[in-house]
Amino acid sequence: MDKIRAPEPVPEQTIDPEATTAITKARYDRIAPVYDLMETFEERLLFRKWRELVWEAVDSAREILEIGVGTGKNMPYYPKDSKITAIDLSDRMLVLARKRAEVLNMKNVDLLQMDAQSLEFPDKSFDVVVATFVYCSVPDPELSLREINRLLRPAGKAVFLEHMYPENPFLRIIFDLLNPLTVRIRGANINRRTLANIQKAGLEIQVVKNLTFSGIVRLIIAKSKKEERE
Ligand SMILES: C[S@@+](CC[C@H](N)C(=O)[O-])C[C@H]1O[C@@H](n2cnc3c(N)ncnc32)[C@H](O)[C@@H]1O
Repeated sequence: MDKIRAPEPVPEQTIDPEATTAITKARYDRIAPVYDLMETFEERLLFRKWRELVWEAVDSAREILEIGVGTGKNMPYYPKDSKITAIDLSDRMLVLARKRAEVLNMKNVDLLQMDAQSLEFPDKSFDVVVATFVYCSVPDPELSLREINRLLRPAGKAVFLEHMYPENPFLRIIFDLLNPLTVRIRGANINRRTLANIQKAGLEIQVVKNLTFSGIVRLIIAKSKKEERE
């Protein structure tokens, strides 16, 4: 007689992308008013210096897209001479981003509500795409990363600051156990294979800089493989 097997875990992407996206939006709408407060400590201690590294890698691009702008924490680092489009799924996060843009008197920024899994821009619209702490929460990361690949111009680059699955096997077990909790509380998966997802989406990884123990947070620079004549 066949043994009864436990069902295989269903990968998140195949559950129901539309429903998961609606849940993600609702989560960030709910967290928005306290989001900056929740991260005060990490932001001052670590994130600020990591954001500087991200924007040093962007230098003076003509047109930049920021995915998952949140409350606009990257705005102080935006190059002044670039045209920047920044999108987010959550309209409540965007309200705060708009306030920050006003306070900083940013004239070169367009803030739009959009789903990173289906971006409403023509192919090859941007020189650089930036995402910081986003691919832990986008329901189908590979789909969205493919969108980035589509939107990048030839020789364009994508710069990511992301936390992901650790390299250490013991930590992996802990991260897998804690993941349902972190998703519920902060909307963030802590066991995403972001490096592999970027490659699967067709981007060419150029730089990976481990910023913490076991590669939990990494700065990743990837390039579009498109040729100039394509
Ligand atoms: C952890 S926050 C990071 C915010 C900001 N990038 C930062 O560095 O502070 C993740 C952001 O990604 C946004 N997000 C999640 N899924 C998204 C999607 N499918 N499309 C667009 N934005 C999304 C959330 O609404 C949230 O604002």
